[in-house]
Formats: sequence, C-alpha cells, structure tokens
Amino acid sequence: MTIKQKLSFSILLGTATLAVTSAAASESLASLKAQYERPDSIPENPGNPLTPESIELGKALFFDPRLSSSGLMSCASCHNPSFNWEDGLALATGNEHKKLGRSTPTILNAAWNEVSFWDGRAETLEEQALGPIEASGEMNMPLDEMLEVLRSIPGYETKFERAYPEQGISLETVAKALANFQRTIVSGEAPFDRWIQGEEDAISKDAIAGFELFNGKAACVKCHSGWNFTDSSFHDIGVLTQDKGRGGFLGFDSMNHTFKTPNLRNIEGRAPYMHNGSERTLEDVVQLYNEGGRTHRDTLSPDIRPLHLNESEVRQIIAFLKTLTSDDQEMPLPLLPSLYATNP
Ligand code: HEC
Ligand code: HEC
Repeated sequence: MTIKQKLSFSILLGTATLAVTSAAASESLASLKAQYERPDSIPENPGNPLTPESIELGKALFFDPRLSSSGLMSCASCHNPSFNWEDGLALATGNEHKKLGRSTPTILNAAWNEVSFWDGRAETLEEQALGPIEASGEMNMPLDEMLEVLRSIPGYETKFERAYPEQGISLETVAKALANFQRTIVSGEAPFDRWIQGEEDAISKDAIAGFELFNGKAACVKCHSGWNFTDSSFHDIGVLTQDKGRGGFLGFDSMNHTFKTPNLRNIEGRAPYMHNGSERTLEDVVQLYNEGGRTHRDTLSPDIRPLHLNESEVRQIIAFLKTLTSDDQEMPLPLLPSLYATNP
C-alpha cells in the first residue's frame, strides 16, 4: 500500500464513521450533504491552460477516425457520448474487431482523475492520450504516421496554430489538446445535486433512504466518496476476474485484483459494470456487495463483507443511484477539418 493510499484510507474511515452516526439527526444530514457539493470549476493542468481553442482542437481530434490505421476508429468509437462516454460493451472492441481485456471506462469527469486507467498506470490525461492511438489492439497507428496524416490536412494546421501558437503539430500538442477536450466532459446537474442544494422534493423518499444507506449501513461511501463518488484509490471488491489490475502494474501481489474506484455519475446509463463488464445491471452490482463479493481472495478489501440488506433496502440504494443521472445536453459533433479546404 502506498503512502497516498494509507492516507486516503484513514481520511475515508473518518468520513464513514461520521456518516454512520449522522444518518439519524437531520442537522447531521445537512453536514453529510455538504460533503457532496459540486465544485465550481474544472481543475486545469498549469502547463496546459484550458483555452477555447485547445478544447475545440481536442474535440476534432477525439472524433477523428483518421487518427487510426484503419481510418475507421476514433476515441469516440469507444468513449461514445451516446453511452455516457463508454461503449455499452462488457469488453471494449478494438482494431479489426478484436476484444480487449477490459471494459471502456467513462471519461465523464476525467478532469478530476488523480490517475487514469483501471490500474492507474497513467498519471495525467496528457500522458494517457497517445497510448490508445498507438496501441495495436486499439487504434493501431504509429505516432509518426499520425503526425504525418495530421500535417497533411490543411484545416488542422490552422487549428493547431490557434490553440498552441508556434508549437506546431507535435505529439505534445496532440496530447495536450485531447486532454483539454476531455477535461470539459463534466456530468451535468442531476436531481441529486438539486436535492443537495436544498430542493427537498428533487428526489424521492426512497432515494433519500438509499442515500442514508449508502453512507451508513452499506458503507459505499468508504470508497465512493465526494460529489464524484470516488476516492481515486484501488480496491479488490470480489469481482470474478483473473485480471491482476493494480497488482499486475506495480508487481505487488498484495494489490492483485484491485482496480480504481469508478465514479458513479450517470451510472444508470453505464451498464454493463466493472472493469470486465461482469455485472449486467445495477441490481447485480448491489447484489455483489450484499453478498460481500462474488469471490473471497486474500486481497479482498476488508470493507467488503455481507451487508444483510433486505429487498427494500436494495431497492432504495438503486433509487438513490438513479438520482445521479444528469439531464445533459446533446453534444453536437464537430466538423472535422477537410483535406481539401482550409476552413473551418
Ligand atoms: C478500442 C476502444 C478504445 C479507444 C479507441 C480508445 N479508448 Fe480510451 N479506454 C479504453 C479502455 C478499454 C480503457 C481502459 C484500459 C485499462 O484500464 O487498461 C480506456 C481508458 C481511457 C481513459 C482513462 C479513464 C479513467 O478514468 O481511467 C481515458 C482518459 C481514455 N481512455 C481516453 C481515450 C482517448 C483520448 C482516446 C483516443 C486517442 C481513447 N481513449 C481511445 C478503450 C478505448
Ligand atoms: C472497498 C471499496 C468499495 C466499496 C465499499 C464499494 N465500492 Fe463500488 N466499486 C469499487 C471498485 C474498486 C469498483 C470497480 C471494481 C472492478 O471493476 O473490479 C467499484 C464499482 C462499482 C460500480 C460499477 C461502476 C462501473 O463503472 O462499472 C458501482 C455501480 C458501484 N461500485 C456501486 C457501489 C455501491 C452501491 C456500493 C455500496 C453498496 C459500493 N459500490 C461499495 C469500490 C468500492
């Protein structure tokens, strides 16, 4: 366990104790609610200011299949806005329809990622961005070839010049633009947020009871904490899998089968669930927790144990999870720079 994880464990245990005792009194419910307020602004990378020009460029790159060797696959093929920036599949499908080993995580709220990937192997979105372009199983595009393609499209020259003046079309500027566009993919206001802000009837009585269970008896908050419902840490929750997760990346057996806690925003529309899509519905997910995990290994988190939730409590937790679905606007697709024209 890293120092950072130890630290977050102790902070979280503190939060959970507070949560359990506060469920009863409404005054404490107010202080619990305060832990879920949305942030006012998007965190930026100081070396890559979030300018409208860099976001616009990043959006074009994100949706452009010319960044793949087949010319058929873009970032949005897997991180599809219609599926809450996932793909609705248990395992992602990459180049030549090959199945990958893991499911596509959402990029909703990726600006708040402390690390990226299920095993946390990328530190920043900039560092993450070129990986899928090059990976043979994903877009399968040698990076120097990708640069050649981009440099051959006049419309891109203008866009790069506006976004990153005098820095040219380089691996660095491609990564920066992709990272900045992704930072702007933020889950919109959901009924839960309106309730947090004081609109008492924004969510049902069942959902409020579910919220209290989430913070109390079911202790989901130990890992899914804060407005984005993640501690950015790694846990083995007893998913049926051979994947070593964080342990495989770090080479520590004690971290085997641990994965990054996903955020829970818009979770209702993000099935199937888990790093391998092994849980089909939210009912299945809550059932996994109620059983104390599908399997019991040495690495299983001490916070995963049978919860003894009855049917109506299970229903209430699910009612609460559904209040995290935001009424996001449709995202208009970008007009991709043409080979033959210099605009837009
Ligand atoms: C073939 C499907 C596919 C394509 C294409 C793809 N991704 Fe992904 N993406 C995935 C999968 C699967 C993972 C998880 C991999 C893992 O954790 O090992 C992932 C993880 C990520 C993450 C980390 C999210 C998190 O919270 O941990 C980001 C960010 C991301 N992709 C951005 C991109 C960008 C930018 C592109 C285009 C340059 C792209 N992806 C193209 C499937 C895809
Ligand atoms: C010990 C930490 C921990 C606790 C406690 C916990 N979770 Fe999780 N949760 C995780 C991790 C880690 C994953 C991803 C596991 C994987 O993919 O193997 C996850 C995945 C999920 C998912 C699927 C998300 C996705 O994108 O596929 C949902 C939904 C979820 N949890 C809800 C809950 C609820 C509801 C509770 C309480 C009943 C709960 N969690 C308790 C850590 C935790």
